[in-house]
Amino acid sequence: MLQTMTPLRLAQRMSRLGTETAFEVLVRARALEAKGKDIVHLEIGEPDFDTPQNVIEAGVKALKGGFTHYGPSAGLPQLRQTIADYIAKTRNVPVAPEEVVVVPGGKPVMFFVILALVEEGDEVIYPNPGFPIYESMINFVGGKAVPIQLKEEMDFRFDVAEFKKLITDRTKLVILNSPHNPTGGVLTEKDVRDIAAAIGDRDIMVLSDEIYSRLVFEGSHHSIMSLDGWKDRTILLDGFSKTYAMTGWRIGYGVMRADLATAVSRLQTNSNSCTASFTQMAGVEALTGNQSSVDKMNAEFRRRRDRMVEGLNKIKGFSCRMPHGAFYVFPNITKTGWSSKKLADAILEEAGVACLSGTAFGKYGEGYLRLSVANSIENINKALERIDAWANKNL
Ligand SMILES: Cc1ncc(COP(=O)(O)O)c(C=O)c1O
Repeated sequence: MLQTMTPLRLAQRMSRLGTETAFEVLVRARALEAKGKDIVHLEIGEPDFDTPQNVIEAGVKALKGGFTHYGPSAGLPQLRQTIADYIAKTRNVPVAPEEVVVVPGGKPVMFFVILALVEEGDEVIYPNPGFPIYESMINFVGGKAVPIQLKEEMDFRFDVAEFKKLITDRTKLVILNSPHNPTGGVLTEKDVRDIAAAIGDRDIMVLSDEIYSRLVFEGSHHSIMSLDGWKDRTILLDGFSKTYAMTGWRIGYGVMRADLATAVSRLQTNSNSCTASFTQMAGVEALTGNQSSVDKMNAEFRRRRDRMVEGLNKIKGFSCRMPHGAFYVFPNITKTGWSSKKLADAILEEAGVACLSGTAFGKYGEGYLRLSVANSIENINKALERIDAWANKNL
């Protein structure tokens, strides 16, 4: 008997939840491939390299050695200690294992921290264009999303004068992301100091998304957590996905004051219970083992970035700044006269190159595209040739 389903009564809050377009474009690109079309994939933000061999072996050894059970919600003690040591060394602050929460990826840090801190009506300042999950989660919990526009003429760094104007009595949280997705912008030491000074001694916390901290091509990485007095006001988000090409292992971590770490661990108990135990043992090896694969991947990303920027700047209607970190380029396409979304769609369907509209990263992404350089030089060359041919024909 054919049954008619009753209308689904989703909770109201679901209407406020956004998404990450990269996954949708990937599905569309795969559908075109299934119809026989050849697509160059420059849409998704993950290294095309394999996880380093030593890390895979540590994961396999852990699986065979019985790390197949539940572990503590906040993470295995050996990994929390390893992360505490690593952050202490790289950010130059003392860190205790109780201040570390291990979660399945960098994303859950955003999810849990925003759930734990942001009340209805609280304002959260976040970069726009920026990683779409920030805005999505702020809206989801009923907070007020306050975008700070990252401008091309400032190399997509923070305009601190404008930032100051956005801070109000309702500001609860500020989100920073350096190196930055999607623009490749990198905050300088002075930027970080100026941002801290602008916040001053107001009761505001900072979620500092540093997932690309090891992918800086010019200059070096600076964390607000390293500044005097900022350790307890910063929630540092970092992880393994990008640095060690471990996106599918699902592991990341947050470093935060111990009382907040306890609250975040409770959210973990209520959702994932814990991060996979063998994955965590692979994480210990990633941070303590040989780092040469990280250096190799970074050298290759830089070479590809250079090629991509050079090629894009020769295409009609495109102009592209040199990003200083992460593995994306963010060309300005306003001179094409096309909107970002329409152009990204046409490039996918007619030129066979999957990339993202700048608007997938918020309203200030209009006028830009994001292309990932996490693909081979051969494929990057192929993509450049295709876009060039398409532009010559259509613009
Ligand atoms: C800025 C930023 N933060 C966090 C993440 C999430 O990483 P993970 O795959 O570890 O959840 C990403 C992934 O694309 C990212 O670009």
